[in-house]
Amino acid sequence: MTIGIIGSGAIGTAFARTLARAGMQATISNSRGPESLRGLVRDLGPSIKPGTREEAARADIVFVAVNWTKLPAALAGRILIDANNPIEAPLFKPVDLKGRVSSEIVADLVPGARVVKAFNHLRAEVLAADPRSDGGRRVLFYSGNDSAAKAEVAALIDRIGFAGIDLGSLAVGGKLAQFPGGPLPNQNLIKVG
Ligand SMILES: NC(=O)c1ccc[n+]([C@@H]2O[C@H](COP(=O)([O-])OP(=O)(O)OC[C@H]3O[C@@H](n4cnc5c(N)ncnc54)[C@H](OP(=O)(O)O)[C@@H]3O)[C@@H](O)[C@H]2O)c1
Repeated sequence: MTIGIIGSGAIGTAFARTLARAGMQATISNSRGPESLRGLVRDLGPSIKPGTREEAARADIVFVAVNWTKLPAALAGRILIDANNPIEAPLFKPVDLKGRVSSEIVADLVPGARVVKAFNHLRAEVLAADPRSDGGRRVLFYSGNDSAAKAEVAALIDRIGFAGIDLGSLAVGGKLAQFPGGPLPNQNLIKVG
């Protein structure tokens, strides 16, 4: 079990100190980055490592102690890849989305997160197969409203061997790739060249 701490002020430091005293490991972060934490972690001892806010947020347990008004900024910005479809076994009854795209609803459930819709439109066994096949790369569609988040997910898609295609916003692209209803789900396409 890993522990991340967001906020290295009075409370974040106090918590880190109690962990260190118990010989437990954690990654501590603040708004200014790991370099600004060198002195603090030297004081706290070897079990507490400096990290970025993103690194701390990846831990199993995330301890958040920032100023109240800084909470949105401290928690915001995480990229959430929404691979979900609004339909559930065993009945496969489509959810009534009231005219919205499912990823917009997911985005509302995680305020501040930057949602990128991807990895939802192929069957699991197709997704798990080697994306480099038939002389090309398997196409993965993605969409989102935050272009920086999309660029990061696009780089990930490329790195793992797929050919990513940006479908635009959640409202437009999410709808095209939405299952059920969109035209793109289960299209197992290979981009050649
Ligand atoms: N102090 C107490 O005795 C006490 C007791 C109980 C509860 N609390 C509560 O605990 C929380 C923290 O209080 P505190 O006294 O520890 O505050 P603090 O000493 O002012 O420290 C706030 C910390 O939040 C960090 N921070 C601000 N914006 C951030 C962002 N966007 N991303 C990452 N880190 C960010 C700051 O980073 P930088 O250092 O880089 O600015 C700083 O390390 C507050 O909600 C407070 O009400 C405090």
